[in-house]
Amino acid sequence: MGIKILKTSSYVPGEPIDNSYYVSYLDTSDEWIRQRTGIETRYISKDEGTETMSVKAAEKLELTDEEKARIKVVLVATTTSTSTVPINACILQGALGLSEDIYACDIGMACAGFVAALRMADALLKEGELALVVGVEVLSKMSDKTDRSTVILFGDGAGAVLIEKNDKESYFEGGSRYSEVLASKLLPMTGDVEYLTMDGAAVFRFALEVMNASMNNLLERSGNSYDEIDWYILHQANKRILEGTARKFGVSPDRFPMNMNKYGNTSSASIPLLLDELNRAGKLKRGQKMIMAGFGGGLTWQAVYLEW
Ligand code: ACO
Repeated sequence: MGIKILKTSSYVPGEPIDNSYYVSYLDTSDEWIRQRTGIETRYISKDEGTETMSVKAAEKLELTDEEKARIKVVLVATTTSTSTVPINACILQGALGLSEDIYACDIGMACAGFVAALRMADALLKEGELALVVGVEVLSKMSDKTDRSTVILFGDGAGAVLIEKNDKESYFEGGSRYSEVLASKLLPMTGDVEYLTMDGAAVFRFALEVMNASMNNLLERSGNSYDEIDWYILHQANKRILEGTARKFGVSPDRFPMNMNKYGNTSSASIPLLLDELNRAGKLKRGQKMIMAGFGGGLTWQAVYLEW
């Protein structure tokens, strides 16, 4: 048994902020940002928190009463929660009027969080039950506005999916790597550190390494070749990471869709935002094979193979 995504939706706050905004007060350029990252615009929340954006994204799923009654798992992936207590998943359960007979949980695994939530849904769901999974971030609140190497990267947003159990197998891969050196160099967000800082080049190398390894494992376990996968839906951190992975696999970059040009890096929200964009455009066909993978946050990674 595995999982099937039935519906997708998304929400982003406010108006797009383009690169010229950062060029106006930082030593950077539109050309550098586009070439080094692929990012052109991003959405920044003025006053909406993760709980508000989660609810707005989930409402756009237009759940029927029958679907609401079948939802037994609500998972919200976020590392920038604007509410510690109550948790986002609990707020969502109340806002949507879901039953109390439910498993509601927030998951803090940064850019690996959405796939981690799918994995948890796969483990928790019984036949006939549904899971509501949301990836949401307000990364702008963790960005140092004066640090050109990070502030240009991140955006805010939310993506939601409705999931059921199906009879096709889903395969998951993942892991975690921590050491004093990695922690101090990559994402030292603990304790007294106010803003996210990272050694971008080291994260870049790490991403290529773990994405390639986990995707190769998924191909082997699912009995597919690189070419048999219709879609590689990867965390939207940097277009060069995705292009490098496509090159390494010898697969057309068309199978590695990207939308970081519009949204920037939205961490837990990036994969569901992309899924919703592809789904609304009618590009995802039932039975197509896909791999989703995310990495980040300390650092951890998660990947899944499933059929659409
Ligand atoms: N404009 C102009 N120059 C810049 C900018 C900018 N916005 N930012 C950095 N530079 C400069 C640097 O200062 C450096 O200058 P120097 O050579 O004089 O020292 C030069 O550009 C090259 O810097 P690098 O960091 O080596 O640039 P790189 O090509 O690696 O690109 C980037 C940086 C975009 C951050 C890239 O490394 C990347 O995308 N890494 C992955 C990030 C990621 O995926 N993070 C995910 C985890 S985040 C999370 O979990 C929430």
